Amino acid sequence: MTKMKILVIFLCLLYVLPTNSKRLTPRENKILKANCGRYVEGFISLSGKRKETSEEWKALYGKEVSIGEAPWAVSLTMKKRTLSGERVEDQFVQHGTGTLISPWHIVTAAHLVGITEDPLPNCETGELNDAKFLRDFKDFVAFVNVTCAVPEMCKDLRRGDQFKAFAVESLYIRKGYVGEGCENRESFNDIAVFELKEPIEFSRNIFPVCLPSKAKTPVMGAKGYKLYGYGRDPSDKALESGKLKTLVGTVTECSDEFPYEGVFCTAAENRGLACDGDSGSGVVRTSETRNVEELVGVLSAGASCPELYDAHLLQRKHRRTLTQETDLLIDVSSHLEFFCKCCGICTK
Ligand SMILES: *[C@@H]1O[C@H](CO)[C@@H](O)[C@H](O)[C@H]1NC(C)=O
Repeated sequence: MTKMKILVIFLCLLYVLPTNSKRLTPRENKILKANCGRYVEGFISLSGKRKETSEEWKALYGKEVSIGEAPWAVSLTMKKRTLSGERVEDQFVQHGTGTLISPWHIVTAAHLVGITEDPLPNCETGELNDAKFLRDFKDFVAFVNVTCAVPEMCKDLRRGDQFKAFAVESLYIRKGYVGEGCENRESFNDIAVFELKEPIEFSRNIFPVCLPSKAKTPVMGAKGYKLYGYGRDPSDKALESGKLKTLVGTVTECSDEFPYEGVFCTAAENRGLACDGDSGSGVVRTSETRNVEELVGVLSAGASCPELYDAHLLQRKHRRTLTQETDLLIDVSSHLEFFCKCCGICTK
């Protein structure tokens, strides 16, 4: 009886309603590892077959990113619903950002799905028990190869990005994620993987990043942490939210104390900050040993952007030094087992 209970709890923690899993086989994992994190001509899928081939977009003070500059960046949107709860066909609401790590898998922050406050998970052990999620993961839709979060935004900016909706089939949440209901633990293990119904075909503009090859604590002062997100930029007059942009940061002490392992903080070199809509954004870094881009962080939390921007406006007026705030990132390298268990993306 006790054994049974343990097994059931384990499944609930790792797999939220798994249907037919798209877990990678060891062979596919090997092919993925050999081709991730850089453009490899002809690499379009994990079948091992190659295709014969002959190709500005933005957080607070984020730099706009153009197509192909962040081929792994995913706009995570939700299907639009009317006030009475009915789905509106082919209309999407910007929600967060994710990172492509295989043709089927997108890494993001678990809080995009949320947890209701009643009943709460066990805040001490991280067991989800009967805790319910605020949002239905089947309402999520992913877009790749786009510089705006949703089609309407690109249209308003007269950008010709092509939007192809990818439906989500399963969701995996890292054990120990407890959601908003547990005081001071909001961001603990705030990491999740969305699994798609159909695989994404790779090209010059669309390919996955690599996962780190081993657990490694980020070093204070280390530079080159590039965040790509579709979130807000209060300083942008044309479109405040929804443009893909990047911020380059340095590992630093967190401005707010967060007494849990598996997280680290970065501060943007231009005093910018990730904002609403950037949640789940991947932070990548060029590997120290190979010429590939590795996913090292997932944006979980940070200070309030509009407040920081208002403070900066005042500081500029009085020619004072601009306040620098930090972004709290989940350290991907300390969760490598999770990706191997859920998705077959294993680094060893
Ligand atoms: C990616 O976007 C560019 C620009 O919109 C487009 O030309 C290209 O065909 C797209 N690639 C794929 C595979 O959808």
